[in-house]
Amino acid sequence: MRIVMLGAPGSGKGTQAQRLQADEGCLQISTGDLLRQAVKAGSALGQRAAAAMAAGKLVSDDIVLGLIEERVAGPDAAKGFVLDGYPRNRRQAEDLEQVLGKLGLRLDAAVLMDVAFDVLMKRLTGRRTCSATGKLLNIHFSPQAEIDACLAAGGELLQRDDDHESVITRRLQVYQDETAPLIAYFGDRGLLRTVAAEGSVDDVYARLREALGLGV
Ligand code: AP5
Repeated sequence: MRIVMLGAPGSGKGTQAQRLQADEGCLQISTGDLLRQAVKAGSALGQRAAAAMAAGKLVSDDIVLGLIEERVAGPDAAKGFVLDGYPRNRRQAEDLEQVLGKLGLRLDAAVLMDVAFDVLMKRLTGRRTCSATGKLLNIHFSPQAEIDACLAAGGELLQRDDDHESVITRRLQVYQDETAPLIAYFGDRGLLRTVAAEGSVDDVYARLREALGLGV
């Protein structure tokens, strides 16, 4: 299965992509995670991307194209992939079509994670990542047992540098201006599946599986 996860910051793309990867064996390819790793490692690519990320803007199309090109073609993606955070504008969508075309591959679906804008801010300011397990958590929404499990594993609850209100506002605006037009782009190609992405993580996952024609 080869899918794109579309949706605003905080709509749950990463949360649900992690679950699909665990259950279906399709590789989660998160351009945001790959860029954060590059920034942390201080690589040349990371240095080019850092300022745009800190400001909540998109990094340049050529940087992210390089990141996804090798991963969609790699052996880890043999069972398919979930693109989490790519493409994010029309140019990237066309680049993706070209990359997959060269490999003789096609997308099965583009899933829009549909969440009201006022819910997104609370999800993003409350987001934490467990340093021990990498699990995405939320201080407002995650069950206490999941937070305790992270702490018991010796983990810390880490907050992303761009999860502060002023940067979040900018990221939401960039989504509206640059990424939301891809809803029509994928709709025109007959690939769009819309998932109501509010409610519990389990309920959203069940709706996602149904939208993708996967068994429950
Ligand atoms: P990126 O890392 O992709 O961030 P994003 O798109 O802003 O998306 P998020 O990771 O914030 O949200 P998500 O939808 O994955 O939600 P999550 O599952 O975490 O990009 C960061 C930056 O990198 C960009 O600003 C840009 O600079 C750069 N970048 C990345 N890709 C790029 C590209 N292609 N081109 C150019 N630049 C690029 O969930 C959020 C929170 O909500 C979590 O705490 C979670 O626990 C909670 N939650 C999830 N589901 C539920 C639920 N059902 N109920 C309650 N809480 C929930």
